[in-house]
Amino acid sequence: MQSALSAAARSAAMGAGAKAWSRVATSCAGMGLWRAVMTAAASVSPAISAPASRGRGVSCLLSRALDVKAASAMSALNGCAPTHLRRDLHASPAWRYAEAMNQHRDVPHNTEETPFDFTDENYTKIAELLKKYPSNYKSSAVIPALDLAQRQCGGWLPLAAMNKVANVLEMAPMRVYEVATFYTMYNREKIGKYNIQVCTTTPCMIRGGYEVLKACEEYLGIKVGGDTPDGLFHLMEVECLGACVNAPMVQINDDFYEDLTPESTVKVLKSFQEGKPLPYGPQNGRHTCVGPQGKTTLFEEPSGPSAPNLDA
Ligand code: FES
Repeated sequence: MQSALSAAARSAAMGAGAKAWSRVATSCAGMGLWRAVMTAAASVSPAISAPASRGRGVSCLLSRALDVKAASAMSALNGCAPTHLRRDLHASPAWRYAEAMNQHRDVPHNTEETPFDFTDENYTKIAELLKKYPSNYKSSAVIPALDLAQRQCGGWLPLAAMNKVANVLEMAPMRVYEVATFYTMYNREKIGKYNIQVCTTTPCMIRGGYEVLKACEEYLGIKVGGDTPDGLFHLMEVECLGACVNAPMVQINDDFYEDLTPESTVKVLKSFQEGKPLPYGPQNGRHTCVGPQGKTTLFEEPSGPSAPNLDA
């Protein structure tokens, strides 16, 4: 059985494609023979190597197979050499960074006793938020309440702010910590004023996301997870931010900078340093996400109503 599966894996690696990979990996995961498959795959495909643990193994195998396939196809279309074929989703710096942020360690500026209270303006916003939910489901507002707290603190969430959210929403503090540590948009440590999030998921990777990341690292002199000494920038590598059609792109605080090259990325960073940020959106002159042939649909106002009036 083991040799039959190895043969199947070798044939998949040599050309049957990602679907065949999926079938082989799934069946082998169920039979405890995943290691044999990965060893066979690694022997024929330099882009795939046997990982250390079973849990990550199958998903790494699949994500690599899909990325390699997509990158090769797109590179052929673009007439350029494929790059970064060994991307490993589950061991990306962003993932490791987020994991590190899950643990609280008391430091002078971040303890349970650090003073924190919402401003009057934010208390008003929280009251507005709570109107959206039944009075016995205040915890439903935990995500926007944490976001308000993070913004009030200048882009990060001290322990005292999370405790305040728990208090205001009548939740157990542990349930608030669970939310704050699950979503990577919450920063558990102080970070630079401008949080640069570089997307390197497949569409951005194919269009030069790693070159954009390298440009940020070289220009700012920091690595992913680091802050510039002047406290102006923090650099993160993140997964898809939903602007793939304008890849590659970065998010700086709340704004998307799209259709980037390493050169235009540096221009954007310089504009922030000079205190006059460039307008967000595409940086290559493109209008929103219109294709090279220009606008082809939706020339007239759509006729309505297209949805029932639920208030009637
Ligand atoms: S892959 Fe980068 S925005 Fe979707």
